[in-house]
Amino acid sequence: MVATILDGKAIASQIREELAEEVAKWTAKRAITPCLAAVLVGDHPASEVYVRSKRRACEQAGLESQLHRLSGDCRESDLLELVDRMNRDPAVHGILVQLPLPAHIHESKILDAINPMKDVDAFHAENVGRICQGRPRYLPCTPHGIVQLLHRTGIKVSGKQAVVIGRSDIVGKPMAMMLMNRDSTLGPACANATVTVCHSRTAGLGDITRQADLLVAAIGRPRFVTADMVKPGAVVIDVGINRVDDQLVGDVDFEPVKQVAGHITPVPGGVGPLTVAMLLYNTLLAAKLQHTSA
Ligand code: GUN
Repeated sequence: MVATILDGKAIASQIREELAEEVAKWTAKRAITPCLAAVLVGDHPASEVYVRSKRRACEQAGLESQLHRLSGDCRESDLLELVDRMNRDPAVHGILVQLPLPAHIHESKILDAINPMKDVDAFHAENVGRICQGRPRYLPCTPHGIVQLLHRTGIKVSGKQAVVIGRSDIVGKPMAMMLMNRDSTLGPACANATVTVCHSRTAGLGDITRQADLLVAAIGRPRFVTADMVKPGAVVIDVGINRVDDQLVGDVDFEPVKQVAGHITPVPGGVGPLTVAMLLYNTLLAAKLQHTSA
């Protein structure tokens, strides 16, 4: 069997078009433009690229965006003051502090300082807790993009064995919670999986991954998932973006795994574009939540 390639880029374009239409309608009614404020600390090259692509996507969808830059040796208090200013600015609906931050800044202190109503990354403890309790406000962009990809491709998750490799706060943990929950933004068919989370210290990893109907690789190691770890016909979602010899490769050994899986996402052009699309979704949602009566 050769897997069907899941075209994340095309699905992200479709979502972005739908959102642009919704933004135009919402903005015309209220004379308010949803606004995302992004913060870049230091000059991490990958972060520069990601933030640029997020801001360009905002512009194309009719959203406003701001960019706030701080130098890599700024004090933690400088960043906290900036976050406080954005929290109090009614023209800013969504706040995104691009990670990673320099080592001398406590990431959780910064994320905790963001007003949870403006937390379009869904990294604040309150928003994480709400997902855990099955009553989300915002969903983190990458796992939400994966749910959209599955739904829009007609792949049902309910009742399936899902294995998530990776336990990060950004992808692994929220992905597992969302797949396990009773419902999703797209209905119960995209939830209700039986979920196992594996990580770098899991013993007998292959025995576990071979059980998976849905395998999500988010461990940050190039070509970590090999063909022998995949159940024939499985849906394989590759969240990895690793640079190897100037080439972008995922966490899945794409060519051999493609011969075994039923569906697979490529890198690039799979999950990445969906992350950006779902950030636009959250920014519009943030504006809606902050102007419920407007
Ligand atoms: N760094 C890598 N991915 C992300 C993301 O989704 N949001 C933020 N804020 N930083 C990141």
